[in-house]
Amino acid sequence: MAVLHWIALILSFVATIHNHLGLVEASPNIGVCYGMIGNDLPSATEVVNLYKTYGIGKMRLFDRNPSALQALRGRQINVTLGIRNEDLPNLAVSQDAVNSWFASNVEPYLNDIIFNYISVGNEVIPGALGDYVLPVMLSLQNILDEKNLAGIKVTTVVPGSALGVSYPPSSGEFTSEVSSIMSGIVPFLAQQSSPLMINVYPYFAYASDPANIRLDYAQFTARSPVVQDGSLSYYNMFDAMVDAFLAAMEKIDGVGANVVDVVVSESGWPSDGNGNFTTPELAATYNKNYMNHITSIAGTPKRPGAYIEGYLFAMFNENQKPNGVEQHFGLFHPNMQPVYPVF
Ligand SMILES: *[C@@H]1O[C@H](CO)[C@@H](O)[C@H](O)[C@H]1NC(C)=O
Ligand SMILES: *[C@@H]1O[C@H](CO)[C@@H](O)[C@H](O)[C@H]1NC(C)=O
Repeated sequence: MAVLHWIALILSFVATIHNHLGLVEASPNIGVCYGMIGNDLPSATEVVNLYKTYGIGKMRLFDRNPSALQALRGRQINVTLGIRNEDLPNLAVSQDAVNSWFASNVEPYLNDIIFNYISVGNEVIPGALGDYVLPVMLSLQNILDEKNLAGIKVTTVVPGSALGVSYPPSSGEFTSEVSSIMSGIVPFLAQQSSPLMINVYPYFAYASDPANIRLDYAQFTARSPVVQDGSLSYYNMFDAMVDAFLAAMEKIDGVGANVVDVVVSESGWPSDGNGNFTTPELAATYNKNYMNHITSIAGTPKRPGAYIEGYLFAMFNENQKPNGVEQHFGLFHPNMQPVYPVF
């Protein structure tokens, strides 16, 4: 009896220390974007150690950065790998071009890195590069099929501006330019059981219209529904934005569009750069609530209980991004100290 009591006490003590150090394993559906647009960031090895220290099991890389990939070998952090926007025109030319990209940037790491997704371009739809996305996706899928790499899903990342209508969520619709590109991409995703990656920023919606958008709705802190859409009640803007994307995909003609999932490839709240809209407290509140929402597998009102993976943007404050809020999305300072406690 006494022995059991001591064991229990020791275990709870160890658990407490663990919690205080932030060493609790983060949920497997939470990841963090590793942006590198700064001249004062730590080395890739230090960054990977920082992910391990905080139990972050997933990383989104915006490009096939060799130092980062080298540092990730054998560290058991799952990777979403981005293909750079500027590479799309050349890659879209031929299967061979994609094969050689794959041979240089993915194949050498397959033995000791798990790649969950390869995203073909970041926020290029809508835009001049949008038409290159599907051809590159198809070539990439060919080579994954050929090499029996069914675990790696091909996708692309789209921004909120892809939606021409986002309110109410059930009316969600892509702009007409985006619709014509998505009419090729959404059936491809459905056929491959690949998700669409979406960037979801209640912060920008709130900051652009604070008179009409409630802070508690933007920050997941409303206690009663703020938006009623038919039979669906929305307590937070994040869900409304995700459901608007789901509704938009369902409006694309094509097989099984309603089975395409989403992965939230970015969400976050800046801690500075726009007066009292961007404080460390507000950023901490949003990011904690976002992580809890993702971790709890709540889904959204349209798809309750749906498994949605989410990435936080971003690991570090990046001093070479445009002035203002863009430099202040980091969870960590470049010296690896937290900007605010979130884990
Ligand atoms: C990493 O990917 C593997 C293979 O898809 C999966 O089984 C595992 O749960 C993933 N872990 C995390 C933390 O995402
Ligand atoms: C910012 O300050 C203004 C003026 O005092 C106030 O009306 C507003 O509620 C504040 N906003 C936040 C998010 O704290």
